[in-house]
Amino acid sequence: MAKLAPSILSADFMRLGEDIAKIEKGGADLIHMDVMDGAFVPNISFGVPIVKAAAGKTRLPFDVHLMIEKPDLILGEFVTPQTEYITVHQEACVHLHRTIQLIKSLGVKAGVALNPATDLSVLNYVLRDVDMVLIMSVNPGFGGQKYIPAVTDKIKILSAARASLGLSFRIEVDGGVSLSNAKELKEAGVDIFVAGSAVFGAEDVAARTKEFKDIIG
Ligand code: DX5
Ligand code: ZN
Repeated sequence: MAKLAPSILSADFMRLGEDIAKIEKGGADLIHMDVMDGAFVPNISFGVPIVKAAAGKTRLPFDVHLMIEKPDLILGEFVTPQTEYITVHQEACVHLHRTIQLIKSLGVKAGVALNPATDLSVLNYVLRDVDMVLIMSVNPGFGGQKYIPAVTDKIKILSAARASLGLSFRIEVDGGVSLSNAKELKEAGVDIFVAGSAVFGAEDVAARTKEFKDIIG
């Protein structure tokens, strides 16, 4: 069963609780939380207070995507009873193996994200350690960007490598995911779909969430 993780980056921050209730009603599996520091990416979103505020207010687990430099210094702050994944960027980690172990030592699943231009080979020596690989299908920093088509092949290659190595990490796609490309991405090997504007931009957010779920199965 593939999972849907709507990104609250595209939610109405003044009505965040209501927006989260809508995706929960529509059958979302996780809440994707995009944390940006204005240094690793050219935008600032939100940080620890929002993640902590959401804990206990929904039943959905948290999928925390850290687009920040030196994530080791603060990632522990994002651990709540609902934090299922903490994902760091390979491009932001000098000692990636150590960072992965740090996340796991906190009782949370460890994800590693790759920017569109980053080759899969950077993960060769940590693939056995990760719980999830997040494939960015836009350059990180903003919601509402266009899907980069070349990334579909990258997902297929990663999915094939996972099968041949007998591994079971999840593959997540993030950026420009819509009702029109979700099926193709599922066939390429995606397990977890992040969607921001395609979910929260809808007139009826709960209904759109359900539509997505029906497509990804
Ligand atoms: C981009 C973020 C994404 C973003 C996706 O840097 O990591 O999670 O919210 O937004 P959409 O689905 O609108 O491309
Ligand atoms: Zn994200």
